[in-house]
Amino acid sequence: MADTITITDNRTGKTYELPITDGTIRADALRQIKVSDDDFGLMTYDPAFMNTASCRSAITFIDGDAGILRYRGYPIEQLAESSSYIEVAYLLLHGELPNSTQLEKWTTEITNHTYVHEFLRKAMEGFRYDAHAMGKLVSMLGALSTFYPDSKNVRDPANRAIHIVKLIAKMPTLAAWAHRHSVGRPYVYPDNELSYCGNYLNMLFRMSEPKYKPHPVLERALDILFILHADHEQNCSANAARAVGSAETDPYCTLAAASAALYGPLHGGANEAVLRMLRQIGDVKNVPEFITSVKGGKGNRLMGFGHRVYKNYDPRAKVIRKLAHDVFAVTGKNPLLDIAIELETIALNDDYFIKRKLYPNVDFYSGLIYQAMGFPVEMFPVLFAIPRASGWLAQWQEMLGDNEQKIARPRQIYTGIEIRDYVPMDKRG
Ligand code: CMC
Repeated sequence: MADTITITDNRTGKTYELPITDGTIRADALRQIKVSDDDFGLMTYDPAFMNTASCRSAITFIDGDAGILRYRGYPIEQLAESSSYIEVAYLLLHGELPNSTQLEKWTTEITNHTYVHEFLRKAMEGFRYDAHAMGKLVSMLGALSTFYPDSKNVRDPANRAIHIVKLIAKMPTLAAWAHRHSVGRPYVYPDNELSYCGNYLNMLFRMSEPKYKPHPVLERALDILFILHADHEQNCSANAARAVGSAETDPYCTLAAASAALYGPLHGGANEAVLRMLRQIGDVKNVPEFITSVKGGKGNRLMGFGHRVYKNYDPRAKVIRKLAHDVFAVTGKNPLLDIAIELETIALNDDYFIKRKLYPNVDFYSGLIYQAMGFPVEMFPVLFAIPRASGWLAQWQEMLGDNEQKIARPRQIYTGIEIRDYVPMDKRG
């Protein structure tokens, strides 16, 4: 059997045979299907990219029906069990796990770039005390670009490598300072003797102690959460990174754009929205009423449930559910946990959610852990953005190295008025 598809255009009676590769046909192969010589040719219409592959990628594999997530072929469960975020960032960006020499060099490079220019401190001080941490992070990433004009040289792989390291290294510093600014505490400078996550906790929470010592269980829990959030193939923010990066924008502004996409409550802002929802529900006894309001479509969604790709339990949510117990053993149980468990139990047995294949996603339990660890709610999307930087950069780098990619520029179906003459003000109704 040939790997082709035959299309008959009933408008003209003509037949076309198009090749099928990797389960896809090329959208531009449809352009030859025309009703006349001056016809533009057939296009596809796919709002929200529901059924369009926008790239070829070797980074992350998801089978949404089976609940499978792999980075570079490695199952997420094995990475969460045995790896570290720094190692996973290397894996995503380089395609292979590092050997011990490579890991040491990579870790040293990142550790040596954790400081940011002092002017960024001043820029941070320009925000109001109640500015959202994510808005500050997006702005600081854009501001960082002004310190590295050479980063515009995106076609040079060696130059890219330098700025990839800087970005991964500086994300926790910017993120931690966004928090310190909100609470009016002095900024804490990076402690390069600590691990990536240990140092982040240091910059967030250190007060007068001469040396901050992160709790090993919480440090490891954060490392696991960072591994789970590092990449997720062509999600909204990765797509933003690819689209903006395709204009050869520098990586700092590219990541500012990706972070802005992540900020939305339907994407990385969902963990924050889950916490607000649990607080709003307030008590286990109110759960059935809340579920009824969700099903009634009165605007409430069960935040932390559902996913464009997963039509099964999100494998990251499974790891996080287990991790929650390790964290709560140190911090004490988050009182909102009982509400979350009740919501999950009812939803997983309810026809509305079963029929639509709505399961808990990564954000359903992560917020509870973050809150128990002492993170304020507005820091939740920031906690998502820090590790996702390595995924965005891997996607950005892959896009730049792909000869088939060009500036991202979708087509449209124009639905407006065809043409009309300008109406002077005194003639308008
Ligand atoms: N609660 C109630 N109903 C839902 C939910 C939900 N969380 N999610 C989807 N539905 C319903 C939706 O109303 C629709 O029903 P119907 O067919 O009757 O109109 C059906 O399920 C399909 O929903 P959809 O909106 O077409 O699905 P989508 O693939 O466009 O949206 C989603 C995916 C993640 C935006 C959506 O499930 C959602 O809004 N979830 C809540 C927000 C959330 O938790 N987001 C985090 C995603 S995971 C982190 C990340 O990777 O960013």
